[in-house]
Amino acid sequence: MNPKPKTIRTVAELRRAVAAARAGPGRRVGLVPTMGALHEGHLSLVARAREESDVVVMSVFVNPRQFGPTEDLDRYPRTEARDAELAGAAGVDILFAPGPAEVYPDGFATTVSVAGLSDRLCGARRGADHFAGVATIVTKLLNMVGPDVAYFGQKDAQQAAVVRRVVRDLDIPVRIEVCPTVREADGLAMSSRNAYLDDSDRARAVGLSRALVAAVEAAAGGEHDPRAVELVARRELAAHEIEPEYVEIVSPETLEPAADLERRVLVAVAATVGQTRLIDNVMLDPIGRADDLQPQEARRAG
Ligand code: PAJ
Repeated sequence: MNPKPKTIRTVAELRRAVAAARAGPGRRVGLVPTMGALHEGHLSLVARAREESDVVVMSVFVNPRQFGPTEDLDRYPRTEARDAELAGAAGVDILFAPGPAEVYPDGFATTVSVAGLSDRLCGARRGADHFAGVATIVTKLLNMVGPDVAYFGQKDAQQAAVVRRVVRDLDIPVRIEVCPTVREADGLAMSSRNAYLDDSDRARAVGLSRALVAAVEAAAGGEHDPRAVELVARRELAAHEIEPEYVEIVSPETLEPAADLERRVLVAVAATVGQTRLIDNVMLDPIGRADDLQPQEARRAG
């Protein structure tokens, strides 16, 4: 366990801290980018980084450029003191929490955008600007820290696909690791936005992961048609009184609709429950099994 890590606010200080921590042959730096309001999902990324790195850097920055004008930037949970405690306990060495002016100084004019991938799934509703905001901040964080490995969650599968493409297309020298989705005991994927759910919405929200389970079971039971499997998921959502924004079975790399289930596919769902927009997904292997739908306890035990 690390003592509470010192919170660094400027890029100059961050670079100095990383350079000092990296001094010595073969020291590997791992980066976990977050927007704070930390939960077990974030901490699972830190645990993985801790296993594989000598120095673990976490960034906490609620990135205004990835929020649409009608989205929840103002009310997004900000719990900095608690985040610092949790980060330290989980083994973060360097906590980088810059203010918006440090990240986007006057005159900032550059955007990284990934054509195609950014328009699909969540991009179709939130607008491609959302993923341009993500691609730009992630590119900046990778340049600021210069990590050997950066860790992302499968929970945000489209984000992970976008980040992989940025790194490949821009030749950024980093390995991207995508870690399994951490879930509550009933299957709900952990998310900072779950804090918005009232009791009745929280009860209904389990419908997203139930829909994914139903999809996996349908495929395992012999359903070969992706559109028919999507329909099974939709029915399960309807049973929880959830109207989905999308339910789609797509290629995990291109996010284009999958024509069959003979290759690994991504089953992705988004829905607004009450006032809260939630997403979830599962990878579906050709044999129709999906390890990613285990709650955290079961995965730990297994
Ligand atoms: P945030 O939503 O804070 O998530 C930070 C990282 O934690 C992301 O890689 C996300 O996929 C991962 N994560 C969230 N919930 C998870 C869960 N239940 N299980 C496993 N991993 C989970 O995603 C962002 O922030 C931002 O877009 C960011 C990448 C920091 C750029 O601003």
